[in-house]
Amino acid sequence: MKGVVLAGGLGTRLYPLTKITNKHLLPVYDRPMIYYPIQMLVEAGITDIMIVTGGNGAGEFLRLLGNGRDFGLKRIHYTYQEGEGGIADALGLAEEFVEGDKVVVVLGDNLLERGIRSGVESFRRQQRGARIFLKEVEHPWEYGIAQLEGERITGVIEKPREDVGRLAVIGVYMYPADVFDVVRGLKPSARGELEITDVNNHYIERGEMEYEIVEGWWVDAGENHGALLRANIMAARLGGEGVSLE
Ligand code: G1P
Repeated sequence: MKGVVLAGGLGTRLYPLTKITNKHLLPVYDRPMIYYPIQMLVEAGITDIMIVTGGNGAGEFLRLLGNGRDFGLKRIHYTYQEGEGGIADALGLAEEFVEGDKVVVVLGDNLLERGIRSGVESFRRQQRGARIFLKEVEHPWEYGIAQLEGERITGVIEKPREDVGRLAVIGVYMYPADVFDVVRGLKPSARGELEITDVNNHYIERGEMEYEIVEGWWVDAGENHGALLRANIMAARLGGEGVSLE
């Protein structure tokens, strides 16, 4: 199984912090944000990892992460996303790297208290289709929101304006090898991007989507300044024995 960390974009919701710096290089407690998703993949047993960067400071990832020694890796793969093509477009750049394998895609600003080890194990056993992770949120309009009928998932609505529930699709996506065919078939959304939500809806329509509700906290640190602060506090509580936040 391969891992892809998406670390591009302009991060405009965190301006002016991201005017010069790439969002995923910002500090979260004692390390740059991108350390968390990489660590999470490695802890789940995924050591073949590609970083997709773009936007500001793309070259800095190489200087920061090198061949991944901080994570016990022998090498890290890198690729570069030109322009603002969206999450699904960024994933498309990893096709040769993934090479017919299953792939776990992690947004570089998502932090999870309990990691993804058990989710990855379930996905390894999963015979077909994709797998997503849901968590109840306070601001559903900031996310892709899952629609459930009983236990069955019937669709995902990206950044809904109306009240369609509060179960957000978090930024960890697990796909079979044919995801790249799905990406190739996408059309840009109203904001001109290839949406990961369209990829997910494709698997849902085919009846090939499994989901789990996430336990423990989850933070999308790129949502806004408050979320970034929360990510810092959560990470400090988790990792910083003896760290006083008083
Ligand atoms: C993206 C996805 C959205 C998902 C969110 C999770 O939104 O488009 O479906 O719920 O990540 O972090 P973004 O944060 O890029 O606007």
